[in-house]
Amino acid sequence: MSQEKKSADSIRVCINGERERLDIEPGETLMSSLRRAGHYSVKNGCDEGVCGACNVILGEEGLTRSCLVPAASCDGDDVMTVEGLLDDDGRLHPLQEEFLDRGAAQCGYCIPGVLLSGYDLLQRDTVPTEEAIADALSGNICRCTGYVQQIEAIQAAAERLPDAEPAAEGEH
Ligand code: FES
Ligand code: FES
Repeated sequence: MSQEKKSADSIRVCINGERERLDIEPGETLMSSLRRAGHYSVKNGCDEGVCGACNVILGEEGLTRSCLVPAASCDGDDVMTVEGLLDDDGRLHPLQEEFLDRGAAQCGYCIPGVLLSGYDLLQRDTVPTEEAIADALSGNICRCTGYVQQIEAIQAAAERLPDAEPAAEGEH
């Protein structure tokens, strides 16, 4: 009876609900390992923790810049990439729909990271103010949009989500 054994240069992770084994190289970051395995929505914008393009939701850590995390430290962890926003039928998350409807994405390079920053915020704050959203996006560099449509899209998505409380009149 053969039993598959995890080799020293691989880790087991659960990516968007699917178990996967990732091969890792010595000193490699989670971002590089994910991209090598085909998870290209995890973007390499700067490779040094500045731009937020490589954001993932990592287990209990939550929103994480995967270019700063050693892949070897992630064995057994849950990882969510932007694809994890889709529902079980493959429908877009309200965040994604609002980004599309409001033209909040241009070249798109920053968008997976921005969407995950927005998602992370909405887990903690179901009625975010404009300031709270701007603060949540302060770690994301977007060279195209000026952020205005992105902030509006996140606020609009918050209003559509089930836990959202109706905004007080005049409060936006
Ligand atoms: S690629 Fe990780 S923060 Fe820029
Ligand atoms: S849409 Fe181009 S960098 Fe943000």
